[in-house]
Amino acid sequence: GKKGFIFDLDGVIVDTAGFHYLAWRNLAHELGFEFTEKQNERFKGVSRVRSLEILLEIGDVKATQEQKEGWLVSKNEEYLSYISKMTSDDILPGVLKVLDYLQEKQIPMALGSASKNAQPILKRVGLFDRFDSIVDGNHVTKAKPDPEVFTIGADALGVAYTDAVVFEDSIAGIQAANRVDMVSIGIGDAQVLHEADHNFKDFTEIDTAFLDQLINA
Ligand code: G6P
Ligand code: MG
Repeated sequence: GKKGFIFDLDGVIVDTAGFHYLAWRNLAHELGFEFTEKQNERFKGVSRVRSLEILLEIGDVKATQEQKEGWLVSKNEEYLSYISKMTSDDILPGVLKVLDYLQEKQIPMALGSASKNAQPILKRVGLFDRFDSIVDGNHVTKAKPDPEVFTIGADALGVAYTDAVVFEDSIAGIQAANRVDMVSIGIGDAQVLHEADHNFKDFTEIDTAFLDQLINA
């Protein structure tokens, strides 16, 4: 059937994974513990609220609901201060070439992100109009590895789940795509993302021959 392509945002289209990490690490330091980049892998693709829960587990911190709400706000304020400085230069290498090629081939494209900040980020980097459908943290009730964010995207594009191709930098996102038999493409460390159907270090490694292979599969 007709193919549709679905892109995660953070760590796939833009390099915001580092901003999320910085903001969570600063909170961990405030609370008196370390938070490593390796531990941060578990946070990729995971909702803001769930991320805080995992962070507090790592630091063995007990907190009231009120404290947690305050930390969620301050973490997001710090994160927003980083993204307010973003420009189209922050689009990850090779991404524009892939988007251009798929657009030229008239392949429907959706965004599938857990982030509630997805729309302002896309506007900042000038990619808001590139997607036929934007599904983000404001539209879903179930977080990755639940496939909801991708199934809503595929439905919006009018493609069968098995005809959807998903680009993801997170373990949770790869598992979400695999759960409904979408084609999962890991962007990042192949060892971390070993469950993906295909893996690339970044989009510069993806050539048009590979895209054609996906489109014509
Ligand atoms: C993405 C990121 C996660 C982040 C989540 C929520 O999935 O990979 O690290 O926690 O979005 O983002 P938000 O912008 O709503 O805090
Ligand atoms: Mg991501």
